[in-house]
Amino acid sequence: ADISSLGDLRGKRVLVRSDLNVPLDGTTITDDGRIRASVPTITALSEAGARVVVCAHLGRPKGEPEAKYSLRPVSTRLAELLGRPVTFADDTVGPSARAAVQAMADGDVVLLENLRFNAGETAKADEDRAAFADDLASLADAFVSDGFGVVHRKQASVYDVATRLPSAMGGLVHDEVEVLKRLTENPERPYVVVLGGAKVADKLAVIDNLMGTADRLLIGGGMLFTFLAAQGHEIGTSLFDADSVEACKGYLARAQESGVEIVLPVDIVVGKEFSADTATDVVDADAIPADAMGLDIGPRSAELYASRLADARTVFWNGPMGAFEMEPFAAGTEALARALVAATEAGALTVVGGGDSAAAVRQLGFRDEQFGHISTGGGASLEYLEGKSLPGITILSD
Ligand code: 3PG
Repeated sequence: ADISSLGDLRGKRVLVRSDLNVPLDGTTITDDGRIRASVPTITALSEAGARVVVCAHLGRPKGEPEAKYSLRPVSTRLAELLGRPVTFADDTVGPSARAAVQAMADGDVVLLENLRFNAGETAKADEDRAAFADDLASLADAFVSDGFGVVHRKQASVYDVATRLPSAMGGLVHDEVEVLKRLTENPERPYVVVLGGAKVADKLAVIDNLMGTADRLLIGGGMLFTFLAAQGHEIGTSLFDADSVEACKGYLARAQESGVEIVLPVDIVVGKEFSADTATDVVDADAIPADAMGLDIGPRSAELYASRLADARTVFWNGPMGAFEMEPFAAGTEALARALVAATEAGALTVVGGGDSAAAVRQLGFRDEQFGHISTGGGASLEYLEGKSLPGITILSD
């Protein structure tokens, strides 16, 4: 159900779960994409006369307050982007939050302090989240779930509050799901998926599922070295996950049988150590020296990947190709982003999934409009593509 199902909102207190988990350098927000993405729903509720109580998390504090994870800097940025004041509550469900909500007029916006300063938010057992969920729900008359990046979490503010208040799906979650449906339900082909990032273990389930739906899988980032190892190559001191080698071997074998094309790099940019000023070299992917660390895909690989994207009709990309945050290792990710932009211009549906990948393309100077869709959810979009049911979405349809 969408927000209209909540009826006349004037004077109603509406709790909105947003995903405002942005990268911070001290108290400076380095990518405000998620805050921007949360603005339309908050604005719509405020303009409808609701008293909008926004709740969100930042980072992974351990259930108690920690100054470096305060949402206060986010509150300032949110107010700028909304073009209206935001009252920041110093706690989540305590005296400060209750006083702030009590003092609201119609259309006002309050942001509660980090949900994860409360152990009840992320507790595994349902009964351990109950009291916190009760407290959160007591601050509002209705609930709007708009944090797409957290819908895969069974947490108090995502799942349990929806069992306690009349609830609706916000526009951001709705739009994200609509795009992801186009990838999973009968995608236009060729359907090409580009997977990067450091940890292959995080991607095994999605690779497994994509073996049945995608036409091509292009592999980059730290996870590629476990694939190279699975092919029997020397990978030097590169990232490597011994526990995933067998799984990677299995995917390579299955790809042969099923006709899914798994594309691995043909050359690698290596360094001596994980540092921006290490001496670099470009080597063949099957000839990484024993004392070298792979930190990006090489230029021939970048060309190969661009050529495997040129005729794509549907593209999903998650995870950088290399250690792009260091200038000498950014070229692979940049080339991949350029190839996606070209595919978009050629009429393909291109989706960039994940906070990190989105931040990467923006940091490299690309604009959101150059891609079909930039998802605010990393883990959430991957779990959707894995075919898992997402607790934050199922609870809304129940
Ligand atoms: C994200 O950054 O992917 C979301 O905000 C979820 O954060 P989490 O992985 O800490 O639950």
